[in-house]
Amino acid sequence: MQKVTIKNIVPGAIVTKPIFNEDGVMLVPNGTILHEMGVRRLIEMGIHEAFIVYPESETSRILELYEESPHLDDIIYQRTRVQAKQLIKRAMSRMLPGDQLDMGKISNIVDEIIDQLLSVKEIILTLSRLKTIDDYTYEHCVNVCVISLVIGIDLNLKQPELRHLGVGALLHDVGKAYISGDVLNKPATLTNQEYDQIKSHTEIGYKILIKSGVAEEAAQIALYHHEKYDGTGYNRCLSGDTIPLLSRIVTLADSYDAMSNDRTYRKKLAPDKVYKEIADLSGSQFDCNITDRFLRRIDLFPIGTGIILNTGHKGVVVGHNKFLPQSPVIRIFKGETDSKNIRSSANYVDINLAKTKYLFIVDTF
Ligand SMILES: [Fe+2]
Repeated sequence: MQKVTIKNIVPGAIVTKPIFNEDGVMLVPNGTILHEMGVRRLIEMGIHEAFIVYPESETSRILELYEESPHLDDIIYQRTRVQAKQLIKRAMSRMLPGDQLDMGKISNIVDEIIDQLLSVKEIILTLSRLKTIDDYTYEHCVNVCVISLVIGIDLNLKQPELRHLGVGALLHDVGKAYISGDVLNKPATLTNQEYDQIKSHTEIGYKILIKSGVAEEAAQIALYHHEKYDGTGYNRCLSGDTIPLLSRIVTLADSYDAMSNDRTYRKKLAPDKVYKEIADLSGSQFDCNITDRFLRRIDLFPIGTGIILNTGHKGVVVGHNKFLPQSPVIRIFKGETDSKNIRSSANYVDINLAKTKYLFIVDTF
């Protein structure tokens, strides 16, 4: 199974996850074979990507291995993702001064996400290369919620803490509902006054959450998610373990997702750069222990990624080494390695890059 942009789908692909529109209406059920007309129709309807498999091909056989390591976009149902995004969009776009949040639906969706994550044995996160910038703010909230919960589960947090973490992470930026879009999305450098406005979203968010009846532990996430481990963050300049654990988790998840996506004021970083940046900021911005555990769950080279070695050979990733994400198991095909050849050729050699000192990946395609 692979996730592809709709325009790259070759007719004959089989849909492996139902495709929903923005309103949560199912457009294409699981198992549908997409023909040219169907692909065109989906493009017209503004659908960007889908999970598909090509029948009986070498590529699909390789990519089926992907099932063993669910990645960020895989680990919750698309329907849940769409619903969560809609809830957060409604909450943030219609909020007026003094409004409270309808926490019933938000708590339910967080419970759904937790249940889905707990049902996955071994979660591996990858940096999706297919994200769009549409509705970034809302998509970001859902991503931060999912990533935070993955970290929380890894840290063996109990169910009540996971619920606080999920709710706080999903609503961590709710205070931005009161900040002008012009300031939030300003591509140029902010003035001091504008920066102060941005910084105020943490305090505003905390007040909204408390007023809406959210537990203190969850509301504190909105308040402290821009604090840094070394005390250089805002607004309270807390440091180390005086920053509540749940907030330290969300700070990392927030930065990770922000670095992986295009923003109006900067381009997203390449996956290996994100990995390095997060590792470099461990101990200054982020809690070292949380960062360590988190990085072990990152898959830099998802199965199916085309790679180029330092020798110039091209290949495809077919396996992982759990604690050495930079060194996956790759498959090198004899002769040409374009997608057509990968499907038809049975002549290949598998190399575990963790077991060789001289071969390493220099690029992906
Ligand atoms: Fe924020």
